[in-house]
Amino acid sequence: MAVIIDGKAVSLSCREKIKEEVAKMAAKGIVPGLAVVIVGDNPASRTYVNNKKKGCAEVGMYSEEYALPEETTQEELLELVEKLNNKEDIHGILVQLPLPKHIDDKAVIAAISPQKDVDAFHTENVGRIMIGEYKFLPCTPAGVMELLKAYNIDVAGKECVVIGRSNIVGKPMLMLLLQANGTVTICHSRTKDLKETTRRADILVAAIGKAKFVGADMVKEGAVVIDVGINRDENGKLCGDVDFEAVKDKASYITPVPGGVGPMTITMLLKNTLEACRDENK
Ligand code: GUN
Repeated sequence: MAVIIDGKAVSLSCREKIKEEVAKMAAKGIVPGLAVVIVGDNPASRTYVNNKKKGCAEVGMYSEEYALPEETTQEELLELVEKLNNKEDIHGILVQLPLPKHIDDKAVIAAISPQKDVDAFHTENVGRIMIGEYKFLPCTPAGVMELLKAYNIDVAGKECVVIGRSNIVGKPMLMLLLQANGTVTICHSRTKDLKETTRRADILVAAIGKAKFVGADMVKEGAVVIDVGINRDENGKLCGDVDFEAVKDKASYITPVPGGVGPMTITMLLKNTLEACRDENK
């Protein structure tokens, strides 16, 4: 039976540290501020945004929410982003994705000041990650790396396989594992022999968005299995991309869903907001 990686506990201890840092800054009259923008009423986005605001309050950060109607135009959203770029009490800007279809998310991300881009989605920040000189790391992959660190799982020299090539998780995950000296392979829907590739992995990261997609036959005995997915199973119960029950006896370490990678994502957002504020007040 694998060690179950406790994302809640790791997250809590990271948040305690962030809280202490925020308190130190507050003593000097500086309070890190995050603006969260949500367009439309996607229920999953609403939950994420609520959790992000709650996370800010718990560590003593200031947050503002901008909940805009579905019919908001791209121009209106870009105007808001520009206003937030210039707002002194705001150090981080997060525009919750997905945006309604009539809005070009690339144009919106490009409009966010790279200094306030706490998601690390702006091309400047993406480029910095490529050359290893980053200010911010994207929250979910950064959270995965923190979990590996917390459990003393060394990446150097390991075969790492990432399933999924999204800009939010798969691609930056590849870069972070590479920077940690892993030998990294990325798999996707066109990968020829997926199972053969995933079975080579010492560290397997699943970020595909398909409920219980990774079964025991895709996992090497003793592998570290990191599940980034958040899905609903056939009974409407929250589950990951990994068939946890089937894989837990084969893996050496495994993240559960919920309670694995999920709690780390918001913690990394808080860390980035703190960094952005520090940078601004150097
Ligand atoms: N939608 C799903 N994940 C994310 C994220 O990390 N950041 C933003 N802005 N939107 C998301």
